[in-house]
Amino acid sequence: MPVAAAEVLVEVDGKIGIVTLNRPQALNALSISVMDAVVEALGGFDRDPSIHAMVLAGLPRAFAAGADIGEMKNITGGAAAEKQLARHLSNWDKIGLLKKPVIAAVSGFALGGGCELAMACDMIIASETAVFGQPEVLIGVIPGAGGTQRLTKAVGKQLSMEMSLTGRKLSAREAFSFGLVNKVVPVESFLSEAKKLAHTIAAQPPLAVQAAKASVREAVDSKLSEGLSFERQSFFRLFDTQDQKEGMKAFSEKRKPVWTGK
Ligand code: CAA
Repeated sequence: MPVAAAEVLVEVDGKIGIVTLNRPQALNALSISVMDAVVEALGGFDRDPSIHAMVLAGLPRAFAAGADIGEMKNITGGAAAEKQLARHLSNWDKIGLLKKPVIAAVSGFALGGGCELAMACDMIIASETAVFGQPEVLIGVIPGAGGTQRLTKAVGKQLSMEMSLTGRKLSAREAFSFGLVNKVVPVESFLSEAKKLAHTIAAQPPLAVQAAKASVREAVDSKLSEGLSFERQSFFRLFDTQDQKEGMKAFSEKRKPVWTGK
């Protein structure tokens, strides 16, 4: 089903691509069509050589209050759930697999699939009103888009257990103190701060940025020995690039490097 154009907004600002969830009447609930459009837009930016970093933003009242409960409530049976929801849920994983960095700009509710969506991004800028949680247990299920895995890796077993087993929510300050978010800012500036961070990343040599992202992801997703080997190979491959030569030459010549992305 095609998404109503206005439910997902897409724009470019210099070298950054911005995708905004815009379904305020349902607190940005992540319907199948909304998630398809988000992945299509971010995937398009990932393939566009003029874009170096991305921002995935919500609205001030809600980043996203979860997967769309209306689309799930009448599903009966595990096999039917798998048939109807497996492709939908794989969209969260696709965001984790993008090559270029994605910053989540989170304000208000980031619950269930919304919290999972923010965590699938690479960094999170949160407004002071942001609320993070995996409250699926309160409606008879569990997180299905990676929450038990990504939350546990982000905040540790004890808190992840408590959140997933009781529906306990975290304020933005708590989320910051537990390492779930990068920065907490006033609600007026959550989007501008996320864009600022994206612009800072977009000014760096893109191949090195992508290699660093892939290596950090490897650290989260693999055993230490595999992660170390992945990082080493990525490090060596960067010596095939002009940006490595330019970066090191510019350092020696005490001038600013000029990145070509090659
Ligand atoms: N799906 C569909 N619609 C949703 C929604 C969701 N996840 N969350 C909110 N809405 C809708 C409400 O139904 C309501 O619509 P109507 O005005 O048509 O009735 C509208 O958004 C506003 O919501 P509320 O009136 O409930 O607003 P509130 O301020 O009183 O409460 C809230 C806000 C605490 C976030 C509450 O809406 C809520 O608890 N939402 C559900 C949160 C949740 O359980 N998320 C997990 C979903 S399951 C999931 O995500 C599985 C997964 O892992 C992928």
